[in-house]
Amino acid sequence: MSQQSLTAKRMKDIRAFHVMDLLAKAKAMEEQGRYVIHMEVGEPDFESPQAVSKAGIAAIQAGKTHYTPAKGLFALREKISHFYQQRYGIDVAVNRIMITPGASGALQLVMGAMIDPEDEVLLTDPGYPCNRHFVRLVEGKAVEIKVTAASNFQATAKQVDQYWSDRTKALLLASPANPTGSLLSKQNIQDLYRQVSKNQGIFIVDEIYHGLVYDQKETTALAISENIFVINSFSKYFGMTGWRLGWIVAPEAYVDELEKLAQNVFLAAPTPAQYAALAAFSDESLNELEERRKIFAERRDYLYSALQDLGFELDDKPDGAFYLYAKCTQFANDSFQFCHDVLEKTAVAITPGIDFGDYKANQYVRFAYTVPISEMKIGVGRLQEYLSI
Ligand SMILES: Cc1ncc(COP(=O)(O)O)c(C=O)c1O
Repeated sequence: MSQQSLTAKRMKDIRAFHVMDLLAKAKAMEEQGRYVIHMEVGEPDFESPQAVSKAGIAAIQAGKTHYTPAKGLFALREKISHFYQQRYGIDVAVNRIMITPGASGALQLVMGAMIDPEDEVLLTDPGYPCNRHFVRLVEGKAVEIKVTAASNFQATAKQVDQYWSDRTKALLLASPANPTGSLLSKQNIQDLYRQVSKNQGIFIVDEIYHGLVYDQKETTALAISENIFVINSFSKYFGMTGWRLGWIVAPEAYVDELEKLAQNVFLAAPTPAQYAALAAFSDESLNELEERRKIFAERRDYLYSALQDLGFELDDKPDGAFYLYAKCTQFANDSFQFCHDVLEKTAVAITPGIDFGDYKANQYVRFAYTVPISEMKIGVGRLQEYLSI
């Protein structure tokens, strides 16, 4: 038997990111001395707050390199609970909070604990691509709800009702979402939760981009119900992607099962990272993060009008995250080819819609404003030249 044939069947359904090809191409160009503007990267360019890095180093030096309990350091879970009180004015029992290796670890735990083979999980298309793979990993079936600008690129309760079948177990949404930056309002969350509850399913809300919301205050799904699974992370707002740390707030009834699975699958999240994250909630860090949020808002405003001026079609200014999902049909019928051509000719890297699903994916590209305005200006200048030829 060839090695290929020994690979699990599910691997056929796990897609690589197309943007990785683009990144490899960009890297090769950089090696040849070209100055690439990276607007494809889905992580903040800012480093972790100083206090966080210092606390991480101090933890390692103090020998805090052993396992923590599977649910994470009690002190960190307490800080998260306090953060919910401070930021959203809601009480979240420490017992319901579990530290995980990133939101990725959190999503895998929730899927592992809640989804049976053949269970259907409703997601959005476009949406965060790894979600359907997490579902596949546990032998579930991802069912994609096609979303458009008409519903702010979020699923509506009506759609959930239409897509719900006898096999549907869960609805998983992100707010703000990747790649569109769209936010669920309090009313949206209430309507969706009501619909999911009516169908006796579970509602999972990924709030990884909370904190990166610009013109209004975001609502956590926890304010709607204690029975919603909420996922969050230190990666985006807290600027800690590489520390691999996130969390789940679970309904009380499922906490023990999730803990049992975590004990087996991850044992625990990285210990130095957990000590580092304790410092993420200090006034010093939060002030620094607040300054960054303002910078992201300025970048969004700049890029939004710059792309409009270039002729990209954009829907309403997205509320959060650090992405603009732009229609490129004025320039090309195939956004994947367009991204490759743009990279080759202008050394500007952007992500094709196909990385986020299939629905109208050829018509869209994602710009990440994870570089300073000065760099984006160079990128926009190059695009202008390219598009006007
Ligand atoms: C919507 C969404 N959820 C989850 C993740 C995973 O993040 P992490 O595992 O770094 O916390 C990402 C990363 O880009 C994301 O965009």
